[in-house]
Amino acid sequence: MHIEEYVSLRDYTTLKTGGVARYFVSVTTRGELLAALAFAAEHQVTALVIGEGSNLLVADSGYPGLIVKMGIMGREYQSLSDGQAALMVGAGEELDAVIADSVAHGYSGLENLSAIPGTVGATPVQNVGAYGVEVKDIILQVEVYDTKVNEFKFLQNKECGFGYRDSIFKSEEGKRYIVVAVQFTLSMTAQSKISYRDLALYFADAPTPSAAAVRDAVMKIREAKFPDWRVLGTAGSFFKNPIIKASEAARLKEMYPDLPTYLTSESEVKLSLGYVLDKICNLKGYRQGAVGLYEAQALVLVNYDGASASEILAFVEKVRMIVREKTAIEIEPEVCIVGK
Ligand code: EPU
Repeated sequence: MHIEEYVSLRDYTTLKTGGVARYFVSVTTRGELLAALAFAAEHQVTALVIGEGSNLLVADSGYPGLIVKMGIMGREYQSLSDGQAALMVGAGEELDAVIADSVAHGYSGLENLSAIPGTVGATPVQNVGAYGVEVKDIILQVEVYDTKVNEFKFLQNKECGFGYRDSIFKSEEGKRYIVVAVQFTLSMTAQSKISYRDLALYFADAPTPSAAAVRDAVMKIREAKFPDWRVLGTAGSFFKNPIIKASEAARLKEMYPDLPTYLTSESEVKLSLGYVLDKICNLKGYRQGAVGLYEAQALVLVNYDGASASEILAFVEKVRMIVREKTAIEIEPEVCIVGK
């Protein structure tokens, strides 16, 4: 384990911007993680664990503590009865590589999440979801290091407080936990979920696709909507789809009858912010200097050419203001903002 100093975090985030970490370390074992935390305590700085940095915006002033890049690996399949399996994965594993592997083994469960950049350890934190599946649907348990009582333990699915792009790990209470492994439930026999509009259309003529076929389809659909994060700076959807009162949604629907809405509870409705940004605010492809909303998906912010974090944040405020003025909706970033 080697602790580095003054490391630019630009190279560790897919938005390709932001300042410097005072200290930086990659850990590949539980022992190294503990040593890194001990280092932070000794130097009286906070520690922040990151994965591939695919959902992070680091401020230009950087991070004054220790950034711990999670690299704990490992994939362990445990066959259960009736073609079911439990797959335990180290937090540092790349999500898409794990999905490719599970699909190659003939298991369904993860395929709808194909081609999402990032590590497995990040998935429970924001309850990663796409194309009709959220990880909360397939997580059995999460292994964490509890920094309050200094021990490794397992949190069962129900203890994780999962919600839309939300979990206990994002709350004040849950900040004590560091995710070190995630166990998913997979199946050889279950049908893949293809009810999400894009998939239902794709498979209109072949409604019982294999997990591999669904993985292929998701990859194709995403390719058309998302910029390649290896080329352009992006963190996928920059904002969350807003959840608003049903009465508010009804008011908007009167003005914009085609606005896609989804009931999330008896009194609340989730709106497609992509639609709001694109069709209502006319912001698809909107650009200010090096920052813009992607031409093929307005919810995706792109750092086209070396934008600073403060330029991105100023752009984000502008977008929030336009949405507020047009629709009276408050929108929130989905991306985690680190530092100030
Ligand atoms: N839409 C537009 N214009 C746009 C973008 C979207 O009219 O520019 C409309 C679409 O036509 C569709 C609706 O808005 O009717 C929803 O769009 P889409 O299916 O692309 O999904 P999304 O709600 O914009 C969410 C997730 C994505 C995830 C996709 C697919 C959030 C914040 N985003 O996007 O997740 O891949 O669904 O399931 O929930 C991420 O979290 O980073 C992410 C990429």
